[in-house]
Amino acid sequence: MPSTYLTTPIYYVNDVPHIGHAYCTLATDTLARFYRMTQGADQVCFVTGTDENSQKTVDAATMRGTEIYTYLEDMAGNWRSTWETIGISFDDFIRTTEDRHIQTVENLLKRIYDKGDIYEGLYKGLYCSGCETFKKESDLDEKGHCPDHKKAPEALEEANYFFRLSDYQDRLLEYFEAHPFFLQPASRRNEILSFIKEGLDDISISRESAEFGIPLPMNPDHKIYVWFDALINYISVLSGREADPFWEGEVTHIVGKDITRFHCVIWPAMLMSAGIKLPEKVFAHGFFTVEGVKMSKSLGNVISPVELSEKYGNDALRCGLLGSFEFGGDGDFSRAQFDKFYETKLAGGVGNLFNRVVILMHKFMEGAKFAPEASEAIDQRQAEFESLMDAKKIKAAIDFYFGVVDQANVLLNETEVWKLAKTDLEAAKKVFQSLQRSLEFLAINAEVLLPESAPQMQAMLGEEDRLGEACILFAKPE
Ligand code: MSP
Repeated sequence: MPSTYLTTPIYYVNDVPHIGHAYCTLATDTLARFYRMTQGADQVCFVTGTDENSQKTVDAATMRGTEIYTYLEDMAGNWRSTWETIGISFDDFIRTTEDRHIQTVENLLKRIYDKGDIYEGLYKGLYCSGCETFKKESDLDEKGHCPDHKKAPEALEEANYFFRLSDYQDRLLEYFEAHPFFLQPASRRNEILSFIKEGLDDISISRESAEFGIPLPMNPDHKIYVWFDALINYISVLSGREADPFWEGEVTHIVGKDITRFHCVIWPAMLMSAGIKLPEKVFAHGFFTVEGVKMSKSLGNVISPVELSEKYGNDALRCGLLGSFEFGGDGDFSRAQFDKFYETKLAGGVGNLFNRVVILMHKFMEGAKFAPEASEAIDQRQAEFESLMDAKKIKAAIDFYFGVVDQANVLLNETEVWKLAKTDLEAAKKVFQSLQRSLEFLAINAEVLLPESAPQMQAMLGEEDRLGEACILFAKPE
């Protein structure tokens, strides 16, 4: 089986992380944990990082009145420590101002240039620094503003270097044809296929006027367009080696739907030009609103993942967010729904189940445990969970997991095993055995979905033939 290389987008550092960013990072982390469990930890590499060579960075540092590198150090540290705080198990963290990245970018650009795919020209058009993208009139709203940033793009006319993206239309279509699962979900694939079929324009890859960025190797007076440098992070983080076993294995980029074009059109074309293998998969997730409204600073409805983590813990943050709507679709996040999830599924669900079963098995079986057993039903349950995760149906996998919790709680309550044990211990033992198998399933897969609680679940399940002590898994939030 090929190794698994998973990436998140690298994040702009003009602001601190919000739960939209955390959503993407937690989803990728959950997939990484799943593949570590099923394929072995050494078969998985999961990376994230920060996208720093952007005009946004310069503007934000200027606003704060801080020297740019001091600002970057501070913000990259903030992103990294936020991910650590919320339990993200990244194997490496790349910053695009690091030498290893700059060297890889220079090397790749030279290869693309030597191939004849970079040429000098004049760029005349519109640029939105919010998106860090060149815009067409048709991309703007009726006021002539960028629909995402509600600002008119800047009119630019300058000497630029261009990448011959237009030459790659046929090869991209062939790649999509040969790899039906390259871009998922299917709705995104259709969107990008029609975009490519409409015909591709060459893209400007340098800015003469940019204050900050990586100098273009063929003309250091120009800075490389931030997206052209950022995409390369996926290789620079592997020490710049496309011969790295992880790049040679299965490469999956997890991205938001807003940045699919960059990952499924520009990036593959860059790799084709440089003679490097393409990623096997790109998965584009949706966007979510908060209480039905788009999250934005001006509306003051931006939620910090750290705040949720401090109040409810990391497992609640992970499953509460990823369980709100299916990965790949759009959805909504609401506090009321989150609180309900915490109360019914975590505290009252899995937490209560573990606590009660372990206490009852101590009481009626002196804490003795049933020996491990192999059965078709156990294998099938595990296989079903794994096939959902493998298909990246993360919400469905979460629902399946909590379905096991609900079934076990129903069994516990319907059999009234605490009464049964007093009249028919043998019959009660059968119930306890089934409950123990459910706890085992829940503890194993908590490594993926509830990693913060997994060690406590394992501790409650104890050693070979004895259960550990019962504990409270999800206390009432402060
Ligand atoms: N720097 C680029 C990515 C370069 S990758 C080579 C970028 N950064 S970003 O910080 O603006 O966004 C990063 C990711 O966060 C995107 O995938 C975006 O879709 C995601 N999200 C930002 N807000 C979001 C929501 N409200 N909901 C879900 N995801 C969101 O783009």
